[in-house]
Amino acid sequence: MDPGTSEKRVVEMEEIVRLAKARGFIFPSAEIYGGFRSTYDYGPLGVNMLRNVKNAWWRSMVQLRHDVVGLDAAILSSPKIWAASGHLENFTDPLVDCRNCKERWRADHLEPGPDGRVHCPNCDSTDLTEARAFNLMFKTFAGPVEDESNAAYLRPETAQGHFVNFSNVLRTSRKRPPFGIAQVGKSFRNEITPGNFVFRTREFEQMELEYFVPPADAAKWFDYWCNERFEWYVDLGIPRDMLRLRAHDKDELSHYSAGTSDVEFLFPWGWGELEGIANRTDYDLKAHSAASGEKLEYFDQATGERYTPYVIEPAAGATRTMMAFLIAAYDTDEVAGETRTVLRLDPRLAPYQVAVLPLSRKETLLPTAQEVLGLLQPVAMCDYDETQAIGRRYRRQDEIGTPLCVTVDFDSLEDRAVTVRDRDTTEQVRVPIDRVVEEVRARLGG
Ligand code: GAP
Repeated sequence: MDPGTSEKRVVEMEEIVRLAKARGFIFPSAEIYGGFRSTYDYGPLGVNMLRNVKNAWWRSMVQLRHDVVGLDAAILSSPKIWAASGHLENFTDPLVDCRNCKERWRADHLEPGPDGRVHCPNCDSTDLTEARAFNLMFKTFAGPVEDESNAAYLRPETAQGHFVNFSNVLRTSRKRPPFGIAQVGKSFRNEITPGNFVFRTREFEQMELEYFVPPADAAKWFDYWCNERFEWYVDLGIPRDMLRLRAHDKDELSHYSAGTSDVEFLFPWGWGELEGIANRTDYDLKAHSAASGEKLEYFDQATGERYTPYVIEPAAGATRTMMAFLIAAYDTDEVAGETRTVLRLDPRLAPYQVAVLPLSRKETLLPTAQEVLGLLQPVAMCDYDETQAIGRRYRRQDEIGTPLCVTVDFDSLEDRAVTVRDRDTTEQVRVPIDRVVEEVRARLGG
């Protein structure tokens, strides 16, 4: 089989949600109080994996490039930003209320039934209100007085921070178009219908690049980023046939976009967006320039030309993407006559790269196990587990996607060697302790 294709393992969402909770990837937030409005907490494994997703993005988008710099702008933001960007007016979803059960729905998510009428998905009533625009931004107040002069918004996208800092970054980084500003962080949207686990939540993380280009080159860079971003997911292990690039129809476009293509993933319920690549034109820089009175332009000294750059924006969701990686990696196979669950995560994404496992809890083994752990911790994120039978510990590590287990046994005390076990093949090799770091590095890909 081509490594870029899958056999379309169909995993049920319930299984992903169960694994995520049982093993410590993602917990429902405030669970002891019955949960809180589709919010989630990332547990010991989830926080490692989410960080790995964000680091993989940062590495590819910032570290390995000469034309992109980073930014971490404030989440709590001025209403002036969102007035100028058009979000106060346009960042809305059409909302309908069911008069019977009082549930609220996104009008654009409801399909007419066989009778040609739209039914409430909760109570089946057709007594729904007309659609009205509902702004998705969370409003709050900065300071002790709750009046309009103190209004503030939690950003609904990281993006505007890039635009309002355009001149600051241009001046301090000495970049010139084409160049980009990258940002990773939390965004907030008061979604009417959050759901599908962490696919659509009210608090989530985004990874966004705003890439500033000469207007005449916008089409070329749009194609470039569509291709780059698609391949990023493939490189990190998502089979090609679980991904597609889909161009937006005109009526789907955001208020700022002249053209958008989504990287979509085949979720258990169907195709869903992981990332949008948009041609935002000069919409944002011009809007902020007009509203603030500050010139947000680039002056090309070589040509004497002054212009407002166009922006190509690859905007991905970190939390949603992490879930896609979990789904794509989920697999079951048979080992020694038993079915096992295995997360075939790329080592760059796995919560732990290595598990160090003393064969037994006997005190004689523990100093050597901890010595091996100490050698490996500087080169890989390591788990350490001395409970249960070794077979059960291997299964647990397979289920959370740990690529390598390093087992210290009684022979280790004699031959100063350990067993390195591969998650995917379950093959085991004996490696001298003084070569274990080298072996692990090579197997993890550097
Ligand atoms: N700055 C452009 C922008 O925000 P978007 O398509 O609305 O574009 C980009 O969002 C990405 O952020 C989406 O492709 C998705 O992965 C993620 N995202 C958006 N809303 C989300 C939500 N409510 N929950 C989880 N992820 C979300």
